[in-house]
Amino acid sequence: MFAVERLGPQALGLLLDLQERIHSGLPDPSVFQRSSAEFLSYCLADGGRCYAVRHRGDTVAYRIVYFPRDREFNLAKDVPLPPREYAHVAHWDTIAVLPEWRGHRLSALMNTRALADLEETGIRHLFATSSPRNPHGVRSLIGAGFRPVRLVEKFGGNLRFLFYRPFPGGWDPAQDDAAHGTHDDTGAKLLALSATGDLRAAFASGWIGTGIHMGAATAANGGAPRLRMRRRSLPFGN
Ligand SMILES: CC(C)(COP(=O)(O)OP(=O)(O)OC[C@H]1O[C@@H](n2cnc3c(N)ncnc32)[C@H](O)[C@@H]1OP(=O)(O)O)[C@@H](O)C(=O)NCCC(=O)NCCS
Repeated sequence: MFAVERLGPQALGLLLDLQERIHSGLPDPSVFQRSSAEFLSYCLADGGRCYAVRHRGDTVAYRIVYFPRDREFNLAKDVPLPPREYAHVAHWDTIAVLPEWRGHRLSALMNTRALADLEETGIRHLFATSSPRNPHGVRSLIGAGFRPVRLVEKFGGNLRFLFYRPFPGGWDPAQDDAAHGTHDDTGAKLLALSATGDLRAAFASGWIGTGIHMGAATAANGGAPRLRMRRRSLPFGN
């Protein structure tokens, strides 16, 4: 029913059109950073990997992966990753599903394909960003094995979680929530995605995000999405 395809340079117009449609349909467009034609062209050529999901001939979703190499825009600069590793960095850049096609796990479908395609590229570090005001974006990244490790300002001063995932191995599973049972919050703390001051302080004192509670509209706490955090070191030192 759904098929993931890798896109080539001829897809520039398609991506520009899709990102406008998605951006204009968002209740809070500040959570979605649109890409320039130059950036998309670089990623569609050999500067990244771009994927689309097709459904009966229509494109219903896309994902962009970016290799910063020696370009200025490299999220690794926000953490103490040694610069010699920058050549082995990829960004999990934009992902989007057209509104009428959300809920079919298409972000997970594209992420799985993009991760599999990275084998044998020499990539060792994956970075991504998501707005704290975008719980669905945060959940999608956590589901792909990323963990929020910082709050940073990007794209003209917008607040973003900075996510990291070692590749190919991922975060140490013995330390991850799978080892605790995803609903066991012993040793964890839960902070609302809106509590940016508390989140900043927690990151600064050695906590990282390990899961997300989406919250329910009827919940006594008001249903705010909350980040589950545990004490973890970055695998390359703090
Ligand atoms: C993030 C995003 C790609 C996830 O879409 P997806 O792969 O369709 O999400 P899933 O299929 O995993 O959805 C899980 C659940 O969340 C719901 N959901 C997903 N995105 C949603 C959204 N933006 N608003 C409301 N509900 C949403 C789904 O309907 C589904 O509900 P269900 O469990 O009751 O069926 C999608 O929300 C999106 O395109 N958002 C706009 C662009 C964006 O913010 N991208 C991230 C920053 S680059």
